[in-house]
Amino acid sequence: MSDEAAVSYNGPERVFSGVQPSGNLTLGNYLGAIKRFVAMQESHDCLYCIVDMHAITVWQDPSELTRATRELTAAYIACGLDPARSILFNQSKVTAHAELAWVFNCVARMGWMERMTQFKEKSGKHKERASLGLFAYPALMAADILAYKATHVPVGDDQKQHVELARDIAQKFNQDYNAQGFFPVPEPIIQGVATKVMSLRDGAKKMSKSDPSDMSRINLTDDTDAIAKKLRRAKTDPDELPADAKGLEGRPEARNLLSIYAALADEELVTVLDHFGGRQFRDLKEALTELTVVKISPITEETRRLMGDPGAIDKILEDGAERARAIADPVMADVRRLVGFV
Ligand code: TRP
Repeated sequence: MSDEAAVSYNGPERVFSGVQPSGNLTLGNYLGAIKRFVAMQESHDCLYCIVDMHAITVWQDPSELTRATRELTAAYIACGLDPARSILFNQSKVTAHAELAWVFNCVARMGWMERMTQFKEKSGKHKERASLGLFAYPALMAADILAYKATHVPVGDDQKQHVELARDIAQKFNQDYNAQGFFPVPEPIIQGVATKVMSLRDGAKKMSKSDPSDMSRINLTDDTDAIAKKLRRAKTDPDELPADAKGLEGRPEARNLLSIYAALADEELVTVLDHFGGRQFRDLKEALTELTVVKISPITEETRRLMGDPGAIDKILEDGAERARAIADPVMADVRRLVGFV
């Protein structure tokens, strides 16, 4: 096999990313992930996976998991993801993820896993009560990526350490099984600060669907009144808005609202600073409400329309899974052979 002979990977470039189907989708998911995924399908072969197996590492109500999986699929499509071009599917439909994750559980070292900061944060003070799946989560994530020999992984800052673990696993597998260049060493593509959306109540915290306060986020299902109310009450500081990036230092709320504006308007932050510099937060909030409604309501309406036909959504996922299997199956056949499974 020529791949094994080559020291470095020389297969095609491929993009893989995953989003968990849990809770409601926020403006943060849209600007930070989905919008970027949609843009990448222009230039790359992409797989976008709804990671339902990752979701159950913490308890998920089964019917809610089903609903959230369909809603995320619908939202992707409503945001412009083309399921004929990119491969859109849910993880549990393709058994390669679970199978490769087991092999990787045996490649990864306890010491590597114990360094994962997200596990420490999520398991909190009661580590012994966390699921084993939550601890093994990053090995499953490595399997997601490497079952397709993906080379590029767009993720948020908080997932960078997990992609680094996937790099370590790929290299150790290649080495242990004497298969240099078999798995690529995947590159994380980290989102810029401009698309990192922070909480409306605290500019230092990420906007999150799991924040107990609904006022901290804009959901993709919020109507005009809810958007207006949340932005009107969003945290600010007493000063007028700065006219340049330097003036944003130590002002996380101003940075956040201006960045959201820039991302929604597809403008550079400097342009937005130039426009709002010297003006009051109130002006920015009004303009931002209008812009958010204009950009978000077509997505909300289209998501709702698509959710009206769950059968059609399930068919799209099955279709995507079939195309995903076509890529993963030969990789798994090679993995079994390399490991020595008869
Ligand atoms: N762990 C990621 C998150 O919570 C989701 C994810 C699962 C993922 N598998 C992946 C992201 C593979 C990138 C590649 O955000």
